[in-house]
Amino acid sequence: MTTDIAKKVTTCRVCGASNWQDVISFGAVPLANAYLDEPGPEDAYPLELVSCRECRLLSLTVVVDPQVLYRTYSYVTSESETMTRHMREVARLCGERIGPGGLVVELGSNTGNQLQFFQAAGHPVLGVDPARNLAETAAQRGVPTLAEYFGAEVAGAIAAEHGPASLILGRHVFAHIDDLTDVLAGVKALLTDDGLFAIEVPYAVDLLDQVAFDTVYHEHLSYFLISTLDRLFARHGLRTVDVRRLAVHGGSVLVTAARADSRWETGERVGELIAYEKEQGFHTDARYEQFAARVRTTCQELTDLVRKEVANGRRVAGYGASAKGTTLLNICRLTRAEVQFCTDTTPQKQGRFTPGTHIPILAPADVAEQPDLYLMLAWNYAEEILRREAAYLDAGGGFIIPVPQPVVHTRREARR
Ligand code: TMP
Ligand code: ZN
Repeated sequence: MTTDIAKKVTTCRVCGASNWQDVISFGAVPLANAYLDEPGPEDAYPLELVSCRECRLLSLTVVVDPQVLYRTYSYVTSESETMTRHMREVARLCGERIGPGGLVVELGSNTGNQLQFFQAAGHPVLGVDPARNLAETAAQRGVPTLAEYFGAEVAGAIAAEHGPASLILGRHVFAHIDDLTDVLAGVKALLTDDGLFAIEVPYAVDLLDQVAFDTVYHEHLSYFLISTLDRLFARHGLRTVDVRRLAVHGGSVLVTAARADSRWETGERVGELIAYEKEQGFHTDARYEQFAARVRTTCQELTDLVRKEVANGRRVAGYGASAKGTTLLNICRLTRAEVQFCTDTTPQKQGRFTPGTHIPILAPADVAEQPDLYLMLAWNYAEEILRREAAYLDAGGGFIIPVPQPVVHTRREARR
């Protein structure tokens, strides 16, 4: 499918090959963050995963125009406890390597939460985010933000105005970018000689192990192994320096790279994870076939479970109208007939409707009567949510945790 808005992927954005394994097709799905003011007709685009047999990049088959996805962006970085703790940790890990005072540039800086931690540590900062609405919010908080797509040209302009950067950070943005060559050219143009480029991306190993199929949506073009990133960096004159596995967003990696000829040594964890990926079969078709089969089973079990609960007279609602909730609800064909409403703490989502499934989104305080069960659509915050919702659980409420296999979690039991 090639239209003005959706472009078909032909060659691999990492290695340039065009030897793809078809992994799974979810059919046409609306954009994950395209919440509706009123239920009505909407555009949908193919949501399909393929794996590059050369470098094992897991990729979508279509690229939706970033102008459509990001110029006005309703996704606001969560200010949950989990995320706040995580951002503090990222600032500490990166900050301790680059030393005091160096410029920190963040790509996809959203409303500036992450950069505030670097400001607090005494670094000059600059955010780059194409969403004009978010850049404005960030600027109001005192985080200078450029409302642009980062690439070689923008990097040159930043270097001319602010000087080179000691750290360029991109949290959950690298997987959203189609033209990695232009971004990496920008990184090289802007980094100091010993500067670091750090990215946080969902880890393909966790995606497959956790059957986290709902983290697949049109914004996420790439799902990376460390071996795939390592190959990408090498192709662009960079070298992987370190990697850390982190629990956020269902399992992510913070991967640090530097110029190939810089003073940084490559840490042991890099080679260990690359070897692990190989041992675990992540370079074979079979591993992706197995994933597709597990996704089908999980989806079917979830649909059956929710329908059974509803048939037994239970009221079910969604907890967190997350972007991955859009995938999950659409793929599992759960609509208002099964899920009466979704709660979400993000003011921009409240009063609107979920894409494709048209379920109303309420502020948690506007729920008149609690449902019998919440389908946890923000399962990446499960621990925090279960702790916060102790009173609801004490009163007999329950949560359905959808992946890796649907489980009902109540005070009395955890059952399938
Ligand atoms: P995220 O996983 O992309 O950060 O999105 C999580 C969504 O869930 C976001 O819209 C905020 C919402 N949410 C709640 O409604 N309640 C909560 O307790 C948490 C942690 C998130
Ligand atoms: Zn490839």
